[in-house]
Amino acid sequence: AAHGTRTLRVWRGAGGTGAFTEFTTDVVEGMVVLDAIHQIQAEQANDLAVRWNCKAGKCGSCSAEINGKPKLMCMTRLDELPTDAPITVEPMRAFPHVRDLVSDVSWNFRVKPQIRRFTPRPPDAPDGTWRMRQADVDRVQEFRQCIECFLCQDVCHVLRDHHKHETFAGPRYFVHAAALEMHPLDTADRIPELRQAQGIGYCNITKCCTSVCPEHIAITDNAIIPLKERVVDRFYDPVGRLVQLFRR
Ligand code: SF4
Ligand code: F3S
Ligand code: FES
Repeated sequence: AAHGTRTLRVWRGAGGTGAFTEFTTDVVEGMVVLDAIHQIQAEQANDLAVRWNCKAGKCGSCSAEINGKPKLMCMTRLDELPTDAPITVEPMRAFPHVRDLVSDVSWNFRVKPQIRRFTPRPPDAPDGTWRMRQADVDRVQEFRQCIECFLCQDVCHVLRDHHKHETFAGPRYFVHAAALEMHPLDTADRIPELRQAQGIGYCNITKCCTSVCPEHIAITDNAIIPLKERVVDRFYDPVGRLVQLFRR
């Protein structure tokens, strides 16, 4: 059936307190959760707070927890959610609650400047530019797809359950660090800080971050594990490093 109604249980409240309110609204084929929320806002709850921008999965603003799973509201079709129960829509829970569906994600923006900036080596070609291998350029391209939706930060138990916001940068910033650290021109050393201030050791490779990333970035396999290997090589494994030297 193309037409019908769906019931949404939407979190309402401010500053961490609140409760679900049920709304039943008309739906047509192809509607996404954000459409339903906008319709509820227009017809039943004018003051419902929700953050969004592009409606195209590109701005990373509409992150929420839909039926308990971190997702973009604008990219989650109603017809992919079970019809035998109301759809729950909550704000991201790993960050301070502002109002209704809006969380305060500003902590993330304070973490970013703690990652050492891009520091290119001097140009090495006669024309004053650089020579890079295509494979090295391609490798970091994946990481640059990040839309800063923070769904990976929201799902990671180190932040969500253990509240290590002071000592753990989180998967989004391991992706950012990997993009810089693996860049063929970069010369900065981020490994000691990844180990210490950014706490990469707290990640125990649950891969929950990878499973929620709307850009399908292989966060754990391509960013976190290679960075962990660099930390181990540097700080914990002189014997392994010797063995590698002899194998060459
Ligand atoms: Fe979102 Fe993926 Fe970027 Fe994490 S890595 S912030 S899940 S786009
Ligand atoms: Fe967290 Fe991802 Fe590691 S969810 S524990 S950062 S693999
Ligand atoms: Fe931009 Fe959903 S509104 S990602």
